[in-house]
Amino acid sequence: MISIREYQARRQKLVAQLPDNSVFVLPSATEVTRSNDTEFLFRQNSYFYYFTGFTEPDACLILSNLGGEYQDLIFCRPTDKQAEIWQGRRVGVGAAAEKLGIAESYDIADLPEALLDVLDGSEQLYFSLGDDAELENMVLGAVEALRKAPKQSKQAPMSVVEPKPLMDEMRLFKSPAELTIMRQAAKISVAAHKRAMRFCVPGAMEYQLEAEIHHEFAMQGARQPAYNTIVGAGDNACILHYTENADVLEEGELVLIDAGAEFCGYAADITRTFPVGGRFSYEQEQLYNLVLNAQQVALDSIKPGNTLKAASDAVIEVITQGLIRFGLLTGDVAENIAAMNHRQFYMHGLGHWLGLDVHDVGNYKVNGAERAFVPGMVLTVEPGIYVAPDANVEARWRGIGVRIEDNVLLTETGYELLTYGLPRTVDEIEQFMSR
Ligand code: GLY
Ligand code: MN
Ligand code: MN
Repeated sequence: MISIREYQARRQKLVAQLPDNSVFVLPSATEVTRSNDTEFLFRQNSYFYYFTGFTEPDACLILSNLGGEYQDLIFCRPTDKQAEIWQGRRVGVGAAAEKLGIAESYDIADLPEALLDVLDGSEQLYFSLGDDAELENMVLGAVEALRKAPKQSKQAPMSVVEPKPLMDEMRLFKSPAELTIMRQAAKISVAAHKRAMRFCVPGAMEYQLEAEIHHEFAMQGARQPAYNTIVGAGDNACILHYTENADVLEEGELVLIDAGAEFCGYAADITRTFPVGGRFSYEQEQLYNLVLNAQQVALDSIKPGNTLKAASDAVIEVITQGLIRFGLLTGDVAENIAAMNHRQFYMHGLGHWLGLDVHDVGNYKVNGAERAFVPGMVLTVEPGIYVAPDANVEARWRGIGVRIEDNVLLTETGYELLTYGLPRTVDEIEQFMSR
């Protein structure tokens, strides 16, 4: 769990980076209709959650440093007996401030009035345009009202500034408390992948493996996956975001599972590819080992000072060499790399930041240069090779899709593998599946 003190420290750290007389306005997520009058399970906005830990919709955080004084306010739904009987408990205005460690709490219905008050005298408004139309109208309405106040009796902010770069930079570096949660998200996800491997037999359905995964997540306190679970057998493994998960698992096919739990808001993101019947064919094993070698080359380069681009380039070289060796590409390595021919078979990036969002925030470049790894960053390492069923190659390679994805934390000397303990080599997988 993240402590109230840590949330307080995050808010103060953000405000400390703003020029004097700034106001920062951050809305929560709102409920989203799934069909007719039912909603999707509520998921809090990651930024709002990062700065508050508050899990209700229809709330707004305001931070400011007017006249050199730090101020924080939370606006939320009031308690409502009738609404709570139908829709669930609310913290309520009275209890929100203390529960969240925020100085003052108010009814969300009072936000339009309060904005006039808090924005008066400010010079910069830190607010993301384009995210929340309703709040945006309200905020810009308040700015306009201040500008038009009689005899210039009010002072409206002169500029609206995008706060995401500041917030993203904070979220990119994980605290010890966040890492404890992320280790747990990874551990639950590893257990879920093992459960699916254990359950897998020819004749089972893709959605049954998905069910095994989600069962393990929920049994370990992770009620939701961090993203839609992908279970693709045979050709389906070549569809990168396949989520139909509707086909039968056939003997002789590989099945690719990309699944990660969301635990206390944080994502894990793991992919394993293994034979439905427990044993790799020759071609499957060749491609698998190529992806595995590529992943190991990438992992070996995960250390402070190195870059994701450098790791990606090393992987492209290994994969290109392998594809030439198997006759899937022809010509020499340098020419193929220059022409990016690997993109026919490896068409996504090597990895991404991981955190509250599965594709977490944080720039990959700084001032136009590749960003150097620094301890505290968490990322995925996920090379893959996908030979489409209609690829212009020898038939024996077609319809094989392999990805291997693990999650790593940058440390002082290299990396910590968060997703440890999950079979990864051909031998480990075949042994695990024969049990
Ligand atoms: N599961 C989405 C990804 O691997 O990026
Ligand atoms: Mn993934
Ligand atoms: Mn990923």
